[in-house]
Amino acid sequence: MSLNLEIELAGIRMDNPLMLASGILGICPSLIRRVAAAGAGAVVTKSIGLNAREGFPNPTVHIIKYYGLLNAMGLPNPGVDEVLKEFEGQKFSVPVIYSIYGSSPEEYSNVAKKLLKLNPVAFELNLSCPHVREVGSMVGQDPEMVYKVVNLVKSSVNVPVFAKLSPNVTDILEIASAAVKAGVDGIVAINTVKAMAIDVDLRKPLLGNIYGGLSGPAIKPIAIKIVYDLFENFKVPIVGVGGVCDWRDAVEFFLAGAWAIQIGSGILWRGVNIFGEVLNGLRRYMLENGFKCVEEMVGAGHR
Ligand SMILES: Cc1cc2nc3c(=O)[nH]c(=O)nc-3n(C[C@H](O)[C@H](O)[C@H](O)COP(=O)(O)O)c2cc1C
Repeated sequence: MSLNLEIELAGIRMDNPLMLASGILGICPSLIRRVAAAGAGAVVTKSIGLNAREGFPNPTVHIIKYYGLLNAMGLPNPGVDEVLKEFEGQKFSVPVIYSIYGSSPEEYSNVAKKLLKLNPVAFELNLSCPHVREVGSMVGQDPEMVYKVVNLVKSSVNVPVFAKLSPNVTDILEIASAAVKAGVDGIVAINTVKAMAIDVDLRKPLLGNIYGGLSGPAIKPIAIKIVYDLFENFKVPIVGVGGVCDWRDAVEFFLAGAWAIQIGSGILWRGVNIFGEVLNGLRRYMLENGFKCVEEMVGAGHR
């Protein structure tokens, strides 16, 4: 039986449905190439803003045994102009999606317009960074703001726009609905889950920012439920992200309704070879279960 791992996501052709999640490996052309060589079908950059940001004080990352990763980076990034200098003229073998953030619809749109110079295949709007008070969290928790951001970016650029949702809201379907009404081309779910840890010896919070976002295996069931609900309610393509560490996790996301999946913290435990490992497992699963292409798996876990 012939097997086709290629997918088309909002018009973007990818050799396979595995993507690098935003932020895990920073912003740097050589890292993008490394991840592409390891088997990723597409790459999302770390979130880029209008101006440079240093991020939060250390410690910014804490590993919770077996469960996940707690981080409060504070969106450190060199700012869009520096990114333009570093990326101009660079060529990549996989589609590169630029993740952007801002404190207002205008700021999102300005960053996107500047990045058009790099011929991005798409933008991913980080609406949801849970630990930067003055940017993402405000936007991603307010359906009206989400509508305005998506609407303005969509009318400013001529490439697909994805909205990346935060799970830190009361009703995620209301937020997704605002993005869909504004014409979003796809939904990425989910960003990290608000969390913290306390050092019992020092009797102090472990992160410099006190609290941060949890990623990794602990959040996978939360992400699966959200992808499942999004699939039941909307027609736009969904990209699943949260806790993918092996091929079984990936398959679970497809069955829940994801067209593609992103891998983030899993790289910490398994290295960039995780892309090849998940792809091999996915191929085997598809052959053994009679799936000829990824599309046939999407949503197959729904009754
Ligand atoms: C260290 C770190 C940095 C991150 N930076 C970003 C970021 O810049 N923009 C963004 O949208 N998500 C960011 N995320 C969230 C991830 O892209 C992803 O949504 C989340 O970690 C869940 O996936 P995972 O469990 O596979 O890591 C970051 C996550 C981590 C752990």
